Amino acid sequence: MNLGDFDLWMKAELNAVESALLAWVPQEAPAGLGQAMRYGVLDGGKRLRPLLVLASNQAVAGLREAALRAACAVELIHAYSLIHDDMPCMDNDILRRGKPTVHVQFGEAQAMLAGDAMQALAFEVLTPDCGVPPALQARLCSLLARSAGYAGMAGGQAIDLASIGMPLDERSLRNMHQRKTGALLRSSVLMGAACGNPTPRAWTALEAYGEALGLAFQIVDDILDTTQASATLGKTAGKDFDDNKPTYVTVLGLDAARRRADDLRDQAQAALARSGLTDAAWLSVLADKVVDRDS
Ligand code: IPE
Ligand code: IPE
Ligand code: MG
Ligand code: MG
Ligand code: MG
Repeated sequence: MNLGDFDLWMKAELNAVESALLAWVPQEAPAGLGQAMRYGVLDGGKRLRPLLVLASNQAVAGLREAALRAACAVELIHAYSLIHDDMPCMDNDILRRGKPTVHVQFGEAQAMLAGDAMQALAFEVLTPDCGVPPALQARLCSLLARSAGYAGMAGGQAIDLASIGMPLDERSLRNMHQRKTGALLRSSVLMGAACGNPTPRAWTALEAYGEALGLAFQIVDDILDTTQASATLGKTAGKDFDDNKPTYVTVLGLDAARRRADDLRDQAQAALARSGLTDAAWLSVLADKVVDRDS
């Protein structure tokens, strides 16, 4: 394996995801809704969650059609969460993926509805009439729903908003981050794995990998909010500080936050090493990239 191979793999997969989203996210939805949905999800973002699904699927030699659908479904849930996260009633942000946020461009009601419709569309994408066995469809829906809902992303977002100005301890902060961000990353890895037939040992290892990576990702997001410029991030820098949000940087300090992210990357790599999987190289590169990134 070398990094050039990874870049080639990534480029091909990003193209596959973009084409599939282009085909599945409708232009023709009533009253301009399709336009708002497409603006919110097409042509932007790092697509980390789809890449995790596809790398994990590759590691278990799973069903490609199912994995591509899962990759797009999780990106739809993620993009919907960003649209709502940016709305005035939540983080009130005007810049996302280098563009005006959806509510700035299309109005608040349309932004809310675009998010709602994208959430439903994610589950439509997971349940085609043919091409994916029904039991696998159900498994993928269950993994995604649980990570997006009250116990995962939405629950974590509720904690986030309830924690403004609060001096959280590290345990509470970790709980919030694991839900609001970690859960979807973990389920991305597990959806990819569910498309194949991993051994119990591999499944448990991938679960640990996804868990560690998911938390590391949000710690790095907290760090980048303080260390990068808006132009690099494609979203407003310094927003957590301005909004008085507890983050790994405010709770632990920058250096300790970086060390936590590094430790979690090591834990993710250790999990892969004990998985027994022989084709987990892309998951390994992705773990490094999650921690070592500028945006
Ligand atoms: C941003 O996620 C929101 C968080 C969960 C921290 P990403 O950093 O993956 O955003 P995109 O998809 O690349 O825009
Ligand atoms: C977002 O966390 C988590 C989501 C579920 C969208 P942030 O509020 O830190 O994400 P950014 O920094 O706006 O991308
Ligand atoms: Mg937020
Ligand atoms: Mg935000
Ligand atoms: Mg953030």
